[in-house]
Amino acid sequence: MAQLTIAIAKGRLQADALALLGRAGLRTSDAASRRLSIDDDSGVYKFIFVKPADVPVYVEHGIADCGIVGRDILLETEADLLQPLTLPIGCCRIVVAAPANEVGRGFGMLRVATKYPRIAANHFGTQGQPVEIIELSGSVELAPVLGLADCIVDLVETGTTLRDNGLQIVELITESSGRFVVNRASYQLKARILANLIEAIKGVIEA
Ligand code: PRP
Repeated sequence: MAQLTIAIAKGRLQADALALLGRAGLRTSDAASRRLSIDDDSGVYKFIFVKPADVPVYVEHGIADCGIVGRDILLETEADLLQPLTLPIGCCRIVVAAPANEVGRGFGMLRVATKYPRIAANHFGTQGQPVEIIELSGSVELAPVLGLADCIVDLVETGTTLRDNGLQIVELITESSGRFVVNRASYQLKARILANLIEAIKGVIEA
């Protein structure tokens, strides 16, 4: 039975996270399969692949000892996890964006479409800007185009999705990239194996 379970965010981080772990010595010959739970070739580590927003859930509950997920998700969920490593993967920005011809903001209530209701509410709250948050699950860029919202709070990586939908950045809220997160109890109970893994990943990212 594997000694350490690692939750990995499916989607844009997944391939880079597995490549990083591979360089740190955790290899699996099963990575191309659609299995959601696989062991590494040594049998010491188990990888589970879950939706990004579910990584903090699995790790906080101790089902996974540690995980790899974007800072955007951690900001949104405010999970109580240790974050010993910032990873050079999944680098992007969280921004406010609006249709290119409407970037000036009025003084009234702003309708904001987003997958990140907490980040958006905190951001506009600190500015004293009244907002109606419209929570969506994806394709957020459509909302201002179709009149559902005045602007969006979303991730920008290459900028292609914004540009192709006629939106432009109004404000940078913060930067995001991958984080290695650890369950608090596991950090104590599995101190040695986790310390070794953290050192191995550090060795890769500092090389
Ligand atoms: C993310 C994000 C943007 C897009 C940004 O969505 O929400 O839509 O990627 O990437 P870009 O700047 O490189 O174009 P994702 O692809 O995760 O899909 P979603 O809309 O279903 O959430």
